[in-house]
Amino acid sequence: MRPEHPLCARLPLTAGELRTRLAFLGLAREDRQNLAKIHGAIQDHVAELIEEFYEHLGRFPDLVRFLSDPERLARLKATQRSYLLTLGQHSDHLSYAEDRLRIGFTHERVGLEQKWYLGAYAKLFELIMRRLAARHGDDARALTSLAITLQKYLKLDQIFLVETYYQSTMARLEASLQELEQIRQHLEEHSRIDELTQAYNRQYLQEALQAELQRSRRFRHAFTLHGAPHSCAAPSGPPIFWDGMVGKNSPSG
Ligand code: HEM
Repeated sequence: MRPEHPLCARLPLTAGELRTRLAFLGLAREDRQNLAKIHGAIQDHVAELIEEFYEHLGRFPDLVRFLSDPERLARLKATQRSYLLTLGQHSDHLSYAEDRLRIGFTHERVGLEQKWYLGAYAKLFELIMRRLAARHGDDARALTSLAITLQKYLKLDQIFLVETYYQSTMARLEASLQELEQIRQHLEEHSRIDELTQAYNRQYLQEALQAELQRSRRFRHAFTLHGAPHSCAAPSGPPIFWDGMVGKNSPSG
């Protein structure tokens, strides 16, 4: 059965772990009160926040390719809007984490490097803080408290982001390792079989003899070698193809 929060399950991130994160960031009642004020400022200025944000990104040649398609840009602005309007809301629910992880995986999938994504959070912080300063600039204590809260909620999302990139990198690495292991097994099998005759080759025989010799030493059995034809049948599997001798354990010597 598909888990309710598949991306959380992939990390894995449980409700308990999420609670620990929120506690570690020190999110408390004051932050929840501040969040309402932060949302007030975002809601009143969301259109200009978004315009300034993408204007800033568009100044960097590496990012232009992500923004040049007008349809995509319009889609981006719409999703950015809902991102900002839900910032930190119900962040103690796994569905919040699931949504933020999905956004992270989207950026990883489109090939946006972490440095840009993480850096963009500094821009968002600045843009929102300017609006908060315009409203609460005459109360330094309140403004500082709002800045701390904003920083905590943005940090929470950034941690999700770092994890999505790490998870994707690890998944790719594991897939490569599996592929390498399959190649190694294939090569190992083929190093013991003669490609032309499909008979076991000299390499196989040497390994088999070595193993038999060790076994006879371990059990203190005598070890004899019988002369073998050019190619002979192994007890199971393809015939041994070798122009030498075949070893055989013999209790009688
Ligand atoms: C604070 C930083 C950022 C936030 C909060 C953010 C937010 C979002 C959101 C909410 C989505 C939709 C994801 C989905 O529905 O799966 C998205 C997609 C995307 N973002 Fe960002 N973004 C950020 C930074 C950037 C930067 C720096 C770029 C670079 C230009 C960028 C380019 C994209 C692209 C290309 C998509 C996929 C759009 C599509 O094809 O639908 N984002 N972003």
